[in-house]
Amino acid sequence: MRPIRIALTKGRLEKDTIKLFEKLGFDCKQLHNKGRKLILQIPDANLEIVLAKAADVITYIEHGVCDMGVVGKDTILEYGGTFFEVADLGFGRCKFALAGKKGEDFYAGYAEKTIATKYPNVTHQFFESKGMDVKIVKIEGSVELAPLLGLSDAIVDIVETGSTLKENGLEVYEDVTAISARLIVNTVSLKLRKAEIETVINYIEKALAE
Ligand code: PRP
Repeated sequence: MRPIRIALTKGRLEKDTIKLFEKLGFDCKQLHNKGRKLILQIPDANLEIVLAKAADVITYIEHGVCDMGVVGKDTILEYGGTFFEVADLGFGRCKFALAGKKGEDFYAGYAEKTIATKYPNVTHQFFESKGMDVKIVKIEGSVELAPLLGLSDAIVDIVETGSTLKENGLEVYEDVTAISARLIVNTVSLKLRKAEIETVINYIEKALAE
């Protein structure tokens, strides 16, 4: 049988996840010396690590080609999907926030507002919960540009340290929701390979509690 396969979000969450695996005593040599390789082994734990972009982690889990995944709550909220969210890993902490030009009153006036974001579903849900109609413009890159260029009244985006906003003369108007890294599991894998997956979850929960 193939090793339990874990899809790991490349980038910021990757480093913290490797740290967590090392805390568990796993041999992470291949992860440290990965070069351009995308599938890596943790031989002593019979785990295979697949490095993927955040949204693809969910796709691989949903299709059952990966058993477990490490992904941000931001991606889960935006893309949804059918899987079990089994643990809050506690790292990758940041938030979704509504932000815009410093000193402006976002809620002033009656004209429909335009919001730029990389997360249209999160933005839609946020304003729907307020009973407020807004126009949403999807941006792929640095969404902070949109209010500066006059494309939008505000943005809904991830804020971690707050320096991107600050350095561009923007500020948080309102917090939307807190975000952190989550451990997710394919629903079928959890039934078929219950013992192996629960062992990994238990190890991780123990390390998180220390
Ligand atoms: C995110 C987010 C902000 C920035 C916030 O972008 O979209 O631009 O981080 O971080 P800060 O509050 O610490 O300044 P990221 O750097 O992940 O790049 P991306 O545009 O490729 O998503």
